[in-house]
Amino acid sequence: MLELKQVSKTYKNGVNALYDINLKIEQGEFVYIIGPTGSGKSTLIKLLDGEEIPTKGVVDVLGINVGKLRHSKVPKYRRNIGVVFQDFRLLERKTVFENIAFAMEVLNEPAKVIRKRVRQVMNLVGLDDKGAAFPAELSGGQQQRVAIARAIANKPKILIADEPTGNLDPGKSDEIMVLLEKINREEGTTILMVTHDTVLVNKHRKRTLVLEAGHLVADMTEGGYFSHE
Ligand SMILES: Nc1ncnc2c1ncn2[C@@H]1O[C@H](COP(=O)(O)OP(=O)(O)O)[C@@H](O)[C@H]1O
Ligand SMILES: [Mg+2]
Repeated sequence: MLELKQVSKTYKNGVNALYDINLKIEQGEFVYIIGPTGSGKSTLIKLLDGEEIPTKGVVDVLGINVGKLRHSKVPKYRRNIGVVFQDFRLLERKTVFENIAFAMEVLNEPAKVIRKRVRQVMNLVGLDDKGAAFPAELSGGQQQRVAIARAIANKPKILIADEPTGNLDPGKSDEIMVLLEKINREEGTTILMVTHDTVLVNKHRKRTLVLEAGHLVADMTEGGYFSHE
């Protein structure tokens, strides 16, 4: 469902962020992307969601050559991809329900469809009773659950999470991990998760891509053991 062929990325300032990346991910996989700061993890994600275009090579997602997409086609393409960030990025003046609903309203879904799906994803992330709460009234772990619910509301084929547990304590991180595994299983969403958290990566073993200075240096199907920094 996703393939990178000989992909390199050099930014305008001359920084080489990625070199000759070859990579294939099948539908339904759950894959970690790990590597030190500056190794190219976020660049890889930006190539996938069309924020950046490759300098060389082909980025193919769902049969679409993402690097060749016209600007006007990018928003429609992005509906295939849900994104979650370390810092949640919720709308502070909207309730939990409204935050999730908003993602569907921008696609002009009918109100009835929106209400039904919002309740469904709130249940999935374990926040049935928090619909009327504002983000500031929630813990970090709960806010990340809202962000995940919002990211999957439109049933994207791919969920990309860039350090989703970076601001959470170990217990909460583990809960988020269990939730992402449930989404992967129950919604069939392909998940790519960037993380620094070697405790999580060792505990919940999965295919693991390792980036170092822009090179894909390892691709471990069954995961691997990583020592804590
Ligand atoms: N927009 C940009 N313009 C120029 N250089 C960038 C830009 N974004 C990232 N870089 C550089 O590309 C390299 C990889 O960055 P990044 O993909 O953000 O790594 P990571 O997410 O692994 O920390 C770094 O050297 C970074 O400074
Ligand atoms: Mg990054």
